[in-house]
Amino acid sequence: MQVSKLTVKNFRNAVEETLEFDGGVNIICGANAAGKTNLLEAVFYFAAGKSFRNCRDRELIRFGCESAEIKLEFADSAGNRRNMSAVFQKDRPRVLKVGENRVSRLADYLGAFRAVIFTPDHLSLVKGAPENRRRFLDLAICQSFPRYAAALTELNRTLAQKNAALRRPGADRMLLEVYNERLASLSAGVTLNRKKYVRRLESEADKFISEMCGGRESLKTEYRTQGGDNETLESLRDRYREVINEHAEAEIERGISLYGAHKDDFAVAINKKSARSYGSQGQQRSAVLALKLAEGELSAQLTGEYPVFLLDDILSELDPARKEYILSRLEGRQVIITGCESGIFGAYGRNSVFIEDGKICSFNSNTAKV
Ligand SMILES: Nc1ncnc2c1ncn2[C@@H]1O[C@H](COP(=O)(O)OP(=O)(O)OP(=O)(O)O)[C@@H](O)[C@H]1O
Ligand SMILES: [Mg+2]
Repeated sequence: MQVSKLTVKNFRNAVEETLEFDGGVNIICGANAAGKTNLLEAVFYFAAGKSFRNCRDRELIRFGCESAEIKLEFADSAGNRRNMSAVFQKDRPRVLKVGENRVSRLADYLGAFRAVIFTPDHLSLVKGAPENRRRFLDLAICQSFPRYAAALTELNRTLAQKNAALRRPGADRMLLEVYNERLASLSAGVTLNRKKYVRRLESEADKFISEMCGGRESLKTEYRTQGGDNETLESLRDRYREVINEHAEAEIERGISLYGAHKDDFAVAINKKSARSYGSQGQQRSAVLALKLAEGELSAQLTGEYPVFLLDDILSELDPARKEYILSRLEGRQVIITGCESGIFGAYGRNSVFIEDGKICSFNSNTAKV
């Protein structure tokens, strides 16, 4: 998968800009607040159907403007050129298009363009709350299996309906039973997909961390779910049904759903010790890099082609060995990297744009355009 062009209009701090990319390493350089991350955010929007900053769409519209527009041109490995666009308007639903076709369901949209993003925030993958890990898994799985997005949407909708019912005074137990049955089977599907994905992720990430650290480190994951050790849809559903029903009165008392796939998590261990509790900063960082590289590898295994790698300002905080490792590991893939100064990219920094206040102000390329 290869991005050839990004156009943004009234998006964040950019008025109207077009960027072209080549198939190797592309660098977006500029001072703090110049608008580098904003551009990666625009590219990644097409992979996720939302901002990786976890904000609302209307925040993407340039201050003082009524609407924003972004457009991406890319090609798949078969050389088919495709484009996607998104228009954001205040107080109106966004308009997403794949080619000329408007799409409204995420499942019809995800997977058309795939990318893996690395940001400094990603340490939260190891250190942060379970929701960070669930978000990571869900997004990665959705890109490779768009049908998973439909199941996830359905799970979230059912949870919202059940929570609304739980909050209403005087519990409607019959209605709650209907929701509970649906939650048990939707949770089973979501958990099973996540579990399978984590198992494959672990195996790839373990190879990366071992390579990155000269064989000194190993990475293991442990999937944690209220669905227990079950490995089939039916057994997971039955277990979920059991725990949800067992705690039905507690949920009514608390007014919130306490049991289901929305409580899943996975723990990361380095050399068999919890990375969260015992890992050094460096080990945690290596674990995150390994997990993200593994995400890219799995995306290639599952779909037959590599995604685009987006590296938001992560190189400046890596030591030279890790920096070299990651750049050499991504050789041959399309990579878009942001950073404050071009010097840190060394020999990789051939194809760069410099931006200032959201505007591309200079351009330097030794390589042919796509
Ligand atoms: N909706 C918006 N309209 C106009 N400007 C915005 C909007 N949202 C964010 N900005 C501006 O964009 C700038 C930040 O852009 P961005 O995060 O891309 O910077 P950056 O180049 O990545 O900086 P850093 O190197 O610090 O990460 C800020 O100055 C912010 O005020
Ligand atoms: Mg930034």
